Amino acid sequence: MLTGRRVLLVISGGIAAYKSLDLIRRLRERGAAVRCILTRGGEQFVTPLSIATLTGERVFQDIFSLTDEAEIGHIALVKECDLVVVAPATANLLAKMAMGLADDLAATALLATDRPILVAPAMNTRMWDHPATRANLATLEARGVHRVGPNTGWLAEGEVGEGRMAEVPEILAAIEGLLAGGPLAGRRALVTSGPTVEPIDPVRFIANRSSGKQGHAIAAALARLGAGVTLVSGPVALADPAGVRVVRVETAAEMLEACRAALPADVAVCAAAVADWTVANRSAGKRRKQAGAPPPVIELAPNPDILATLAAGPQRPRLLVGFAAETENVVGNAVEKRARKGCDWIVANDVSAGTGAFGGDANTVHLVTASGVEDWPALPKTEVARRLAERIAAAVQP
Ligand code: C5P
Repeated sequence: MLTGRRVLLVISGGIAAYKSLDLIRRLRERGAAVRCILTRGGEQFVTPLSIATLTGERVFQDIFSLTDEAEIGHIALVKECDLVVVAPATANLLAKMAMGLADDLAATALLATDRPILVAPAMNTRMWDHPATRANLATLEARGVHRVGPNTGWLAEGEVGEGRMAEVPEILAAIEGLLAGGPLAGRRALVTSGPTVEPIDPVRFIANRSSGKQGHAIAAALARLGAGVTLVSGPVALADPAGVRVVRVETAAEMLEACRAALPADVAVCAAAVADWTVANRSAGKRRKQAGAPPPVIELAPNPDILATLAAGPQRPRLLVGFAAETENVVGNAVEKRARKGCDWIVANDVSAGTGAFGGDANTVHLVTASGVEDWPALPKTEVARRLAERIAAAVQP
């Protein structure tokens, strides 16, 4: 519930603004008070009347309006809230925020606020992919601005791509994470999950049996405790956890790149089953079988170790957690791995045949830390995730 919490919602000019009306309704249902700033662009998509009806408050539109300033100045507007949410956040408004411009009420309020800011970007895929937008986002995130979405899907222009505003339940989950004041509120977490896929040619690949269930459950559990979570995932058949930013990758090299881009983070949990080797002689065209010819030889080359790279990197997360999937000497190997990879904790699990750990819903793990080894009972993966998230929250307290 968000009883008594106050949200200042900035609606800028994108077709996704229609979802913001539903967002207001859902926030109100949860007991939050909502005030809205509507930009010139936003006015083209939703009307002040709809917003005023849903918020039960007048709508703030013009920085030079005498009435606006007489009733409540823009400084008071940003002080009298617990969180500023920008949904949809257009490429233009994000650029203004990154530059520190104050040429309308929305931009001025965003520059004047000392409250946490959550943006829900929404734009065309090419605008989203543009280096200018990416650089602006990186600037904002480095300043501590929180982000939810965008998602991949149908865009208003009839194209499919990344740029669609996060759905209302995802934005709500992110708002609740930030406002509920969970123990990880304001913290940033990076989680890797799933397998990596290393192409042999355009149709064949080397992969592994990781389902991503444990990694996804950890991302969801950290988000529920209030962390801003980036989940970097290989191909899995799982829904995106609510309130989590998901980056999809295929190869280990792509996973490392996405992890680097998600830094800085307070915590990283590397739960992905990263392929140890990639195919060195990957073929650009499909390898064809030829009568009488010997079978092709696949040459392997080592992949980067993401966990060890993060551990040795200049932006090492304060708490770095690795996994060790072992079939024998589970704890002994995990203790050795913790030292070798330079991480703080290792979650070790027995994945030998019959344990059902790979792909299953339960897991029996041992938590290896600097102070020793804890044996946890067999638990559902969601419960392992919940306990681990709570241990993480306790460990990163200031
Ligand atoms: O060496 P091993 O694969 O057993 O190590 C497992 C741990 O290291 C896991 O946390 C896994 O996510 C991480 N790892 C990695 N990059 C690799 C291999 C493993 O991040 N290339």
